Amino acid sequence: MEQIVIEGKKRLEGEICVQGSKNSALPILAATVLCKGENIIYNCPKLTDVNAAIKILKYLGCKVKTQNNTVVVDSTNVDKYDIPENLMHEMRSSIVFLGPLLGRTGKAYLSTPGGCEIGLRPIDLHIKSIKKFGVDITEGYGKVKCDVKDKLNACEIVLSFPSVGATENIMLTACTAKGRTVIINSAREPEIEDLALFLNKCGAKIYGAGTGKITIDGVEKLLSAQHHVIPDRIMTSTYMASCAVTGGKIKLNNINYDHISPTLSAFLHSGCKIREYKNSIEIEAPERLKSIGTIRTMPYPGFPTDFQAPVMTMASVAKGTSVIIENIFESRFKHACELIRMGADIKVEGKISIVEGVKNLTGTTVTSTDLRGGTALIIAGLCAKGKTVMKDLTHVDRGCENFVENLRILGATIRREPYS
Ligand code: UD1
Repeated sequence: MEQIVIEGKKRLEGEICVQGSKNSALPILAATVLCKGENIIYNCPKLTDVNAAIKILKYLGCKVKTQNNTVVVDSTNVDKYDIPENLMHEMRSSIVFLGPLLGRTGKAYLSTPGGCEIGLRPIDLHIKSIKKFGVDITEGYGKVKCDVKDKLNACEIVLSFPSVGATENIMLTACTAKGRTVIINSAREPEIEDLALFLNKCGAKIYGAGTGKITIDGVEKLLSAQHHVIPDRIMTSTYMASCAVTGGKIKLNNINYDHISPTLSAFLHSGCKIREYKNSIEIEAPERLKSIGTIRTMPYPGFPTDFQAPVMTMASVAKGTSVIIENIFESRFKHACELIRMGADIKVEGKISIVEGVKNLTGTTVTSTDLRGGTALIIAGLCAKGKTVMKDLTHVDRGCENFVENLRILGATIRREPYS
């Protein structure tokens, strides 16, 4: 096992490139099941979640090669339609294989993901929507069996909540369904647009991705394509938060400014200066942050729930009171307990957190309970007095590529080391 050790209070300065988006790469890799032939996916981050997706692809019969950040998936032969429980559980979002498997094989036998550290994570919206295409679904004992009755038939789906995963699964199922599918109240996240762009290169006819209404005209079949995954907007903001708490000044390359705009208010409100360049951003933080004001997490283009934990670390050391309201996941404040152990003044009441900024956090041994909570604690370690040790890196390794190395390039005193 490994742990991260941080000696805090080092001002971040310098320049790095931001990784490709995890939440874009995972559905695109799953989509290759539907896109028969050799697919080349560039800018794919090296993460344990990506490795888990590759294991599933290989199990299903695809040939997969990786070189640096390029993943080549040859999906000429897909001869299975089930995903074993151990592979499903390695990656939460493996439910996104449902749509591609139905389109390619007419069947998908999966296990249900179940709750996790941040909430119940139901898949009712996925199931209800997929049924409308004419799919027989039996659920029970942690398993879900889906069989296309005759053929996939297009339909109109009105989502009661713009779920990212459900929108992706519906889009993927609709690509080869007969007729025109319309998704009303679809998720508008940039990752949905990126998936649609890839699928359209493969011959799909998807219109309106990135808006609240997506139309998909079914085609006979999809062929393979090459695609460059978009930059990771959550990691971009996470590096900005790392800079902000240390009073630093950094430049981030390979970013998409539009995609991070929902988080900018927190940086500007707290006194950071931001300069936009083509595919780059520079952030300069004041010596001490001001309060971040009130943050409400919302579906895109609202403030992202995935950046709620890192922004709480910013609020913890900012001068004044900040309020954070988590509207997407029901148990997504677990990092608050660890921040409190480091000296933060946070009161949590249901979905609301009130953070009274303190001058200093103090390093201690902390444990992350989820990916973004883990990054929040690393950021806390960067500005804390003394030594912070973070155990259990499994969550952070799911989503952050070279996080420790990049922070070191920016001047942090941080290392990974084995422990037993
Ligand atoms: C995706 C992201 C995750 C991000 C989340 C919200 C990936 C791999 N993960 O997760 O990082 O935090 O979007 O931006 O892209 N819900 C239901 N029923 C369903 C599906 C969802 O009630 O069938 C609820 C969820 O419990 C949650 C909310 O809808 O409260 C949002 O979930 P959703 O948008 O589906 O998130 P994911 O796709 O799982």
